[in-house]
Amino acid sequence: MSSVAFTDIESLVTNDSAFGDGELGIRKDAALVVVDGKIAWIGDTKAVGVTDNRISLAGKTVVPGFVDSHAHLVFDGDRSEEFSARMRGESYSAGGIKTTVAATRVASDETLRANTARLVHELHRSGVTTFESKSGYALDVENETRSLRIASEFTEETTFLGAHVVPVEFANRSDDYVELVSGEMLQSAKTYAKWIDVFCDKGAFDVEQARTILRAGVAAGLRPRIHANQLANIGAVQLAVELDCASADHLSHLTDKDIDALASSNTVATLLPGAEFSTRSTYPDARRLFAAGATVAIATDCNPGSSFTTSMAFCMAVAVRDMGFSPEQALIAATRGGAQALRRSDVGALSLGMRADFAVLNAPSYIHLSYRPGVDLVDSTWVGGKNVYQR
Ligand code: NIG
Ligand code: FE
Repeated sequence: MSSVAFTDIESLVTNDSAFGDGELGIRKDAALVVVDGKIAWIGDTKAVGVTDNRISLAGKTVVPGFVDSHAHLVFDGDRSEEFSARMRGESYSAGGIKTTVAATRVASDETLRANTARLVHELHRSGVTTFESKSGYALDVENETRSLRIASEFTEETTFLGAHVVPVEFANRSDDYVELVSGEMLQSAKTYAKWIDVFCDKGAFDVEQARTILRAGVAAGLRPRIHANQLANIGAVQLAVELDCASADHLSHLTDKDIDALASSNTVATLLPGAEFSTRSTYPDARRLFAAGATVAIATDCNPGSSFTTSMAFCMAVAVRDMGFSPEQALIAATRGGAQALRRSDVGALSLGMRADFAVLNAPSYIHLSYRPGVDLVDSTWVGGKNVYQR
């Protein structure tokens, strides 16, 4: 048994009202004790008992580690020119994915592993302690499986996204590709995947195809989630609820009926501010989701095409500025919301018995995350009580 006390925390956000003020459970001049990687005690610094080690966090804020429930980390190639062209006026479409697919297929394992490791380090640097990663930039049996194998070296939250777009060799034969994805590719990929996802949207897969693929995934033991309503509303949210997806992600186009369906389901509404930002698209209004009582998450959607950021703080700042979140709602969405989108109850808050995952901020309060856009406030990041990043 090893115990560490983190003391003198100026502002501790627990997400547990048993330990402090409001829904965020904020406690001043607080301490937390970690035993064997879990939260064992929370209280006032002056009441801390004897521990093996003691670390003073005077002047700092501690927040639950961010849970990034939507990312595409395994790929090769560069699409900065596509971004540049878009900022000069071209529009975003699902087709750009093919550029990354061509580069990823020919990359070595070492290259893909090194690229992923670099992004994982960036996530830790941004205070992320749990993250999901999808395949979807290989689109053939061997390479989708390879992407998931590499992703699984970094996270248990791996998602099979063979249905990202229809690859060029299946042009005009999308149903044949759906058959491959829900058959041979799924059987191979499932060894390394926990989740299955489909890009159900204009230019990608329609609702019927998505239903076929997600059902096949569930039959193979995977859990469903979905890219829904990013480019258009073709009915993907209704499918998400029908299939009890853990999360429906993007949601840039939502009717009131979609919002009501989400609010009365177990499907989390995951918003991806980086995607609207980087494709210069209209932001969804999160206030409609909150008013209806939906559970909301914020994730980075880190990917080379539509949102090449690993910064949760940046996403929260945009969510607050442009999507109608309060700073408090943004913090909850980036922590507990992300955990709910991954159906995890061991992370997303700092309650007794939960994994000791937290970020230490050089700031007097969590509000600075959105109040100081573009400023890197993370001083250190801890996963299971272990220091994974130190400034
Ligand atoms: O989540 N929407 C689909 N997939 C990614 C974008 C992929 C790409 O453009 O490479 C997303 O935004
Ligand atoms: Fe995505």
